[in-house]
Amino acid sequence: MSPSETDTPLPLAAVRTVAGLRAMVAKWRRAGETIGLVPTMGALHRGHMSLMTLAQTEVDRVVVSIFVNPTQFGPDEDLDKYPRQERSDADKLAAANVDLLFAPQVTEMYPDGFSTTVSVEGVSEGMCGGKRQGHFDGVSTVVSKLFMQCLPDVAVFGEKDYQQLQVIKRFARDLDFPIRIIGGPTEREEDGLALSSRNAYLSDEQRGIASHLPQILKGTALAIASGHVSPDLALQQGITALNAAGFDDVEYLELRDVETLVPLVSLDRPGRLLVAVHLGKTRLIDNVAVNLA
Ligand code: PAJ
Repeated sequence: MSPSETDTPLPLAAVRTVAGLRAMVAKWRRAGETIGLVPTMGALHRGHMSLMTLAQTEVDRVVVSIFVNPTQFGPDEDLDKYPRQERSDADKLAAANVDLLFAPQVTEMYPDGFSTTVSVEGVSEGMCGGKRQGHFDGVSTVVSKLFMQCLPDVAVFGEKDYQQLQVIKRFARDLDFPIRIIGGPTEREEDGLALSSRNAYLSDEQRGIASHLPQILKGTALAIASGHVSPDLALQQGITALNAAGFDDVEYLELRDVETLVPLVSLDRPGRLLVAVHLGKTRLIDNVAVNLA
């Protein structure tokens, strides 16, 4: 990064421009090296870092992007409040031997006149796509741009955001991106709560309630997989259990096809159980596999 781009040099190679990113990637390509990309919005935790470790097992060079993408936040969502901690993130990336940080400004990603949207039908509808209008258009558009800017061999995303992962796999296939999309398993706290930067917003009391989420999710998945109750009844019981545990709102608890995410009324193929709940202003999501016993 040139001195004009940052006050204090960061502890790893870092660029803020697409030209800078391309120059670095081209150098590696000339040396015959393979490239992996891990897109993030920063505020890095163990979950994010596990994706970088996974990428390192697949390719020679790993690029991490940090960009809090405004187009995927709704008008009343936490864009301004979203934690920005570039310095400590850069320290973590350096310690993890990440090869390059790409941290563009909003104007680099969305210059004046920007008018294009990548929109995926089907898999992006309902669940997180239903309640968060335009959210997946924002994700698909920014990730498409990151793919074209970096042109990696492999890109790694977390199963934590399962619908997002399937949306990205879908447009990468539909638009012939020559990029292998890999999903990394969800990293969890000791009590099973999926790691998320939003967990920091929870009060002690809310954090106690939150620990019921992975348990109820797992219990519901087991009930469905056992075949002793219908999926519909198991889902109703799961929603009742979430309400009883003290969640303020159960946005959805749904059984979906593992890839297309069409709703499943019976477990006649591999399924995924996905949930979103609210605790005060904090929204938590999680998901687990549901396989035929
Ligand atoms: P962000 O929320 O920063 O997440 C970056 C990546 O980390 C995503 O692929 C997400 O699924 C993964 N991740 C988050 N929590 C995880 C956990 N507990 N275990 C494993 N992986 C986890 O998702 C986004 O950013 C954005 O939508 C982005 C794809 C960068 C596009 O702007």
